[in-house]
Amino acid sequence: MKILAINGSYRGEKGQTNAFLELLLSGAREEGAECEIVALAKHKIHHCLSCDTCHTPNHYLKCVYSEKDDAASIFDKIATADLLVYATPVYVFGISSLLKTFIERFYSTCDVNQFRVTKSGLFFHHIDEKVCSKDFVSLICCDNLDKEMPINTRDYFRIYSRFMDAKHVGELIRNGGRLFQRGQDQKEENRFPAIAEVYAAYKQAGRELVIDGHIHARTQKRANQEIIPVSFFGQLKKLKPFKKVMVQRAKELFSGN
Ligand SMILES: Cc1cc2nc3c(=O)[nH]c(=O)nc-3n(C[C@H](O)[C@H](O)[C@H](O)COP(=O)(O)O)c2cc1C
Repeated sequence: MKILAINGSYRGEKGQTNAFLELLLSGAREEGAECEIVALAKHKIHHCLSCDTCHTPNHYLKCVYSEKDDAASIFDKIATADLLVYATPVYVFGISSLLKTFIERFYSTCDVNQFRVTKSGLFFHHIDEKVCSKDFVSLICCDNLDKEMPINTRDYFRIYSRFMDAKHVGELIRNGGRLFQRGQDQKEENRFPAIAEVYAAYKQAGRELVIDGHIHARTQKRANQEIIPVSFFGQLKKLKPFKKVMVQRAKELFSGN
């Protein structure tokens, strides 16, 4: 099995998103998968100009940048992969501009003048299934601990799945990114035992992708678990005296005191 991960973090290999990708893929490799991470930050990806040249007869389904940047060669990698992982940090409540820029280039592979109905009954246009309809896992990283923070990003991939007829075989959402210290600092792991459980769940998720083609609900729940029970505190913070204490406590947590 060939797994291709597309990392949309500008920090590329040095970032938190990459650290989680590596964990996931280490599990997949243990089960014999061939895995590759494409760090978009290392590539030249022009943004779509919406010039629509790709929808004219002389340049049909070919972007004006197709020979000038790396998007087309990454599309070729996607076409030969069995499974994709779309990985992104949350940037201002949504997917990163880098990943969005890349996905917008899919436009040049689709004939938007040709109508189709998706498997889930949505009206859409023609798509290149080799590029757009691959089974995929979404992997999202953010720092904030509130459950609301990654919702836009989570929903982006859910909607992508339905319009693109791409099976969404796993949804990894890791908040509290700073607590993980990119796997380098044992201190946080000692303070929050759930961190070790999350790491183990990511590896297990990778194994399951190879064995069963999807991440089991139980593993996903462990990978996405709260490190600090913010939902519970969320109720408490409605009471004024608690709010003050909690803001102070949060400051201490993040400054490591
Ligand atoms: C421009 C920018 C915007 C960000 N916006 C958010 C945000 O809205 N919510 C959040 O929780 N974290 C936000 N972050 C933090 C990143 O999502 C977080 O640090 C993530 O783990 C970074 O992953 P990386 O190291 O792979 O880039 C933002 C970071 C940057 C650079």
